Amino acid sequence: MIKEKKAMERNQLEEIVKPLTEWYRKNSRSLPWRKDRNPYRVWVSEIMLQQTRVETVIPYFERFMKRFPDVASLAESDDEELFKLWEGLGYYSRAANLKKAARTICARHQGKFPETYEEIIGLPGIGPYTSGAISSIAFEQSRAAVDGNVLRVMTRLTENGQDITDAGFRSQVTKQLEQIYPPQGKGDFTQSLMELGAVICVPNGEPRCGECPLAFFCRAYHNGTQLRYPVKKKKAPRKVEQKTVLILRVQDIEDRIAIRKRDAGGVLAGMWELPNLNGILNEQEVLQWLSDKHITVKAMSGEIDQKKQMKHIFTHIEWHMAYWIVDCDAVGEGNGLTWVTAWQLENEIALPTAFKKVYKKIP
Ligand code: ADE
Repeated sequence: MIKEKKAMERNQLEEIVKPLTEWYRKNSRSLPWRKDRNPYRVWVSEIMLQQTRVETVIPYFERFMKRFPDVASLAESDDEELFKLWEGLGYYSRAANLKKAARTICARHQGKFPETYEEIIGLPGIGPYTSGAISSIAFEQSRAAVDGNVLRVMTRLTENGQDITDAGFRSQVTKQLEQIYPPQGKGDFTQSLMELGAVICVPNGEPRCGECPLAFFCRAYHNGTQLRYPVKKKKAPRKVEQKTVLILRVQDIEDRIAIRKRDAGGVLAGMWELPNLNGILNEQEVLQWLSDKHITVKAMSGEIDQKKQMKHIFTHIEWHMAYWIVDCDAVGEGNGLTWVTAWQLENEIALPTAFKKVYKKIP
């Protein structure tokens, strides 16, 4: 009896494959990673597209492919250059993992991209979603890639009120989809689900049901309940951290400013940063910190008014930043600071966006 019910549900869901794939072939956006579906391009694009909008990714993807056209060139990349190319995309661990995985592919697979889901998911930074995307889009296998877009489509189609942040539910949807993959056009089917979620079954505001190839099948559309799905457990509020960021300048032959490397763990692990201190520090407190570092000061100005703090949002943390611009005389030594020119910052060093926002305060 249960078997019968399952078989019936599967048969029903199969009805979406043909109209959705046909819609995709006629209407999909022309995106650079869709032109040549080699696994390397699919992989890099899917990693870039995590947490990042398509329009933002396009120029990064094009630049990345020019500079690192294949696994071998990425495996040999210089970290500074790699992070510079990634600058502004955020979540830099994605770039670090791309390089790690490229090195693994060179060492373990002689530089040839592995072709099975199991081998692909064993690579750094690759989970079920990315491995599913590569297996189906590049290798035409019956593997689904279930992200937030696809979960929204699926929960609306079936009026399913389960919590989409639940990993068990995600793998249930993955299995359900993998049973209906067509014999041909598996990559197109994967992308058609993503595309429908991105342009028709949209996350914010009313979905465009009038243009949806699956409206005939969609329970939420039928019952007018689209906006009730997907159901998502409320996230814990982000932790707010207050920081005082320092722009330390020294007049040399050329002006230089101080940067330093962040610790290897935590947010923005191992990235360059402007020196910063926890909490909001007044002029006296900053002068004391500088004096401890044997840095002498000519002049300083800043903004520590709470209402004027700059905000930067990460996944689980939010920084509220005050700042001081300090003109230094002597810059001390052995204090972990590196002094760089504006040219180097522009061209060679990846400075995360949180600090770029502060850097822009220099008059
Ligand atoms: N979002 C995630 N993967 C995507 C893809 N391959 N095309 C467009 N948007 C996406």
